[in-house]
Amino acid sequence: MPDILIINEGPVRKIRINRPEKKNALTLAMYESMAAAIEDAATDANVRCLLISGAPDIFCAGNDLNDFVAMARSGELGVPIVRFLHALARCEKPLVAAVSGAAVGVGTTMLLHCDQVIASDTATLLTPFVSLGLLPEAGSSLIAPRLMGHARAFSLLVMGKSLTAEEAKEAGIVTAVVPAADLDARSLAVAREIAELPPESVAAARRLMRGSVAETIARIDEEVETFKTRLASAEAQKAFAAFLSRKR
Ligand code: COA
Repeated sequence: MPDILIINEGPVRKIRINRPEKKNALTLAMYESMAAAIEDAATDANVRCLLISGAPDIFCAGNDLNDFVAMARSGELGVPIVRFLHALARCEKPLVAAVSGAAVGVGTTMLLHCDQVIASDTATLLTPFVSLGLLPEAGSSLIAPRLMGHARAFSLLVMGKSLTAEEAKEAGIVTAVVPAADLDARSLAVAREIAELPPESVAAARRLMRGSVAETIARIDEEVETFKTRLASAEAQKAFAAFLSRKR
């Protein structure tokens, strides 16, 4: 089965992260597939809403750390990563996420681009960027402080404090917390509800509410430039080696 499953169900395009054996860590090929699915939705009038989900026990363990090691050597952040982040920021169709289990790194920061985030009561949001010698990405350094205030964003993005589903709801990232068994049905119902609204009106409202796309893209690019330097830093190299060689 592909690591990213893309299924159109009526007007809802489902994008499911499906690499459970590696905790849904994202490879370059997976970023590429997700970016293409989001970009393509822009020109497909049948797609009225996108629904991003993971597995019942893990939403996404963030970027594949082996890829980070390779990127540190090359000095470049993979082109598909930037393409995916730009696609999220530029997306004109409503985005819904269904989160169960851990959402780590970009697994959490992609949620900041979503219009509705439905979380199961097992969900945990965590961004260990700084303890990995890295820094917040995906525009999160801009969006998160606006959403939850500087201090709470600092706890999440810099101090690496995790959020339970309820805490993430209180912080404004998560819209609703539901029992794990209800997550698929509830998130699909929300996506369908949005898909039934007049699409041009939804797009216009959403465009105004999300603020300047150019500003978000500029911040993503600024984060990317610093991220590249941080990947090659001794702090990051040490953290990656520790994770990849840990004994269990
Ligand atoms: N990159 C590469 N491989 C990863 C990964 C990642 N981000 N996250 C998990 N994996 C792999 C593990 O190496 C392991 O592979 P193996 O079976 O070949 O040894 C497999 O997925 C299972 O992971 P494991 O750690 O045993 O699962 P867990 O349930 O104990 O813990 C997590 C799950 C998500 C908490 C833990 O895997 C983790 O912390 N991952 C790293 C998250 C991270 O730092 N991401 C980058 C953020 S910027």
